[in-house]
Amino acid sequence: MRKTIIAGNWKMNMTPSQASVLASEIVAKNSDPKCEVVICVPFVDIFEAKKAIEGSKIHLGAQNVHFAEKGAYTGEISASMLLECGVEYVIIGHSERRQYFAETDETVNKRLTAALAAGLKVILCVGETEAQRDAGETFSLIEKQIKAAYAGVSAEKALDIVIAYEPVWAIGTGRTATSEQAEEVCAFIRGEVAKLYDANIASETTIQYGGSMNAKNAAELLAMENIDGGLIGGASLKSDDFTVIINAAE
Ligand code: PGA
Repeated sequence: MRKTIIAGNWKMNMTPSQASVLASEIVAKNSDPKCEVVICVPFVDIFEAKKAIEGSKIHLGAQNVHFAEKGAYTGEISASMLLECGVEYVIIGHSERRQYFAETDETVNKRLTAALAAGLKVILCVGETEAQRDAGETFSLIEKQIKAAYAGVSAEKALDIVIAYEPVWAIGTGRTATSEQAEEVCAFIRGEVAKLYDANIASETTIQYGGSMNAKNAAELLAMENIDGGLIGGASLKSDDFTVIINAAE
């Protein structure tokens, strides 16, 4: 059975001292979560977050990783650096990185391959813009993003990938996809994984929805057959709201 995973994407929020407080609150409110819970924190918060979640059931993630093992890449962080810091998951291909930091399907694939080879698990983000949806390009775009991201990934390593469907028009806008819209694309994504590998790997793959998921709408989204969790931005910065979403996934 595939795992249900609720992951918080803190984005560029929380200083280390603030991260320590928030992570400690999440631990205190979720001593025995019925689903897997991950917090994806800024690089500089990793140590404080790690300390705060020590001995708890909360898992640690980062928000980006470079594809080279090491070298002259000023300002970048490698997969082995993350691993040694106790990071288990890394978000790759978030639309904000595609939009503001020149991330492409090709660099997504390079980062993903490097992260998996090092032993990290990946939360791979895909999703269409509003213009792409209006132009009827949602499915062809998602198919292209998935194919490119998984290129060269073995069946065994494919099981270390979680996919987050995040329609760009729903991120940080307060405009959530309806549960039917989200389910339709998540089911399509599962079909794409089945085409690339097989039905078994597809049914074992956790597929999250992300985009203005919050304490009010989480239960309805998470009840859908092909939505196995959420990647939560804004609402993951408030421990009470994040906890409501975690409980909705049980
Ligand atoms: P949001 O962000 O929940 O604030 O819309 C989700 C994400 O970008 O992962």
